[in-house]
Amino acid sequence: MVETILEMRDITKTFPGVVALNHVNLSVKAGEIHAIVGENGAGKSTLMKVLSGVYPHDSYTGEIVFNGQVQAFGDIADSEHLGIIIIHQELALVPQLSIAENIFLGNEQSNNGVIDWAATHAKTKQLLKKVGLKESPSTLITDIGVGKQQLVEIAKALSKEVKLLILDEPTASLNETDSDALLELLLELQREGITSILISHKLNEISKVADSITVIRDGAAIETMDCSDGPIPEDRVIQRMVGREMSDRYPRRTPNIGETVFEVKNWQVYHPVHPDRLLIKGIDLNVRKGEIVGIAGLMGAGRTELAMSVFGKAYGKHISGEVRLHGEAVDVGTVRKAIRHGIAYVTEDRKALGLILHDDIKRNISLPNLGRVSKSSVIDEGQEFSVAKDFREKLKIRCSSVRQQVMNLSGGNQQKVVLSKWLFSQPEVLILDEPTRGVDVGAKYEIYTIISQLASEGKCVLMISSEMPELLGMCDRIYVMNEGSMVGEFSAAEASQENIMGAIVRAGSH
Ligand SMILES: Nc1ncnc2c1ncn2[C@@H]1O[C@H](COP(=O)(O)OP(=O)(O)OP(=O)(O)O)[C@@H](O)[C@H]1O
Ligand SMILES: [Mg+2]
Repeated sequence: MVETILEMRDITKTFPGVVALNHVNLSVKAGEIHAIVGENGAGKSTLMKVLSGVYPHDSYTGEIVFNGQVQAFGDIADSEHLGIIIIHQELALVPQLSIAENIFLGNEQSNNGVIDWAATHAKTKQLLKKVGLKESPSTLITDIGVGKQQLVEIAKALSKEVKLLILDEPTASLNETDSDALLELLLELQREGITSILISHKLNEISKVADSITVIRDGAAIETMDCSDGPIPEDRVIQRMVGREMSDRYPRRTPNIGETVFEVKNWQVYHPVHPDRLLIKGIDLNVRKGEIVGIAGLMGAGRTELAMSVFGKAYGKHISGEVRLHGEAVDVGTVRKAIRHGIAYVTEDRKALGLILHDDIKRNISLPNLGRVSKSSVIDEGQEFSVAKDFREKLKIRCSSVRQQVMNLSGGNQQKVVLSKWLFSQPEVLILDEPTRGVDVGAKYEIYTIISQLASEGKCVLMISSEMPELLGMCDRIYVMNEGSMVGEFSAAEASQENIMGAIVRAGSH
């Protein structure tokens, strides 16, 4: 008989105005990879925070049985003590510290009260090797992308005595290659006897590794599916998640493409800290009226750096080149100027750059455009409220009120707030950087529909994504970037996963 390592029984957890978990049961077998899926705001992260002691035992009702014993965790240290390690959805590394310092933060390697740096670095090196990172232990977190940060988080988890590893959307920021590496790592850890709980919106990944799948909907566990007799069809999982059939993943759309509106010419950007490093190497691109243009590339290809440097020179140094709108060069020297010219940029890093977490939903949405909700320089709160309510309905933002702090929203719902904010600025050129990161399949469709509508209204959309199916499903044209250069361009008809990867590989081999 297979041993059960974890049982969560009848867990109920409420927040003011919200029942986040409603009598949830979850049973995890020792040694398995157990996936948890569900729509944004369904309660997945909350369930895992209950399990790991982020929410102490007196803040919920129900019972946690781990290794056959009822547990009452007072904080996260209690659960870690038993080998339950959680990697949160929003990364929690300290940007100014090095990889090694982050991995051993709170668990410092010391000799007589003095930090043993040699041991710290040596152990970090081993851990990095295990997760497939080639960075030096002394590299600062701020100098690596979110994808690599995710791997550092896993290295950090492995530095502890881990029995049950909880990963809350670990591949949300990773492209396919890196995600595959991470899943491979999970399987490797499984062979070493580590049990994992994996939360993800990427169902194709789940079918690659999961032994069981539990579906959470509206705070309740709907069903646990056993994958031992073969993978569960995605459609079936989706149907259970959203409570209805979804026949299309992308909205149907007939493009109506006009003249060239937005052009970037010979764009060059140097690294902000190392001014001798050329990051963006003379990029040319354009987007026509009503067109959705994608940019594909691997992690580190320079896509975000390109977008941010175009958006008010928000990234990089010694930027040169030209941005043109309707054939005329425009000054995008500051973010304010870029916004005035009708350019908007939806960041990939919603927590650090996209949101004011302590403010409410409505203010976050109106912020780049306060003029539109003000009279004589005074904010009209009523108007601000109704704007936010519109977006709440349009994008189905799940919240108790638009006065709710953004910090308390689930990850996917935070993403919808970032999108709303820039949609409200009514841009002519909308640059989207990983627009559906952490968004569930149903809500993705809603976001795609909005993007399509913008294009049919004649707006220009430039979409950076690591999810190739999303680019192929949405774009009229796809550029491919690699190491700061443009290495390919495909029309919708020509584009395929193979020839995009081909362009990247050929560029890499030069
Ligand atoms: N600290 C909090 N205060 C108030 N409400 C909260 C808090 N944390 C979560 N919630 C609410 O509880 C519900 C469940 O949120 P949770 O973060 O568990 O969702 P999730 O399934 O992880 O979603 P996602 O896929 O978007 O990450 C949501 O309605 C959310 O707004
Ligand atoms: Mg979550």
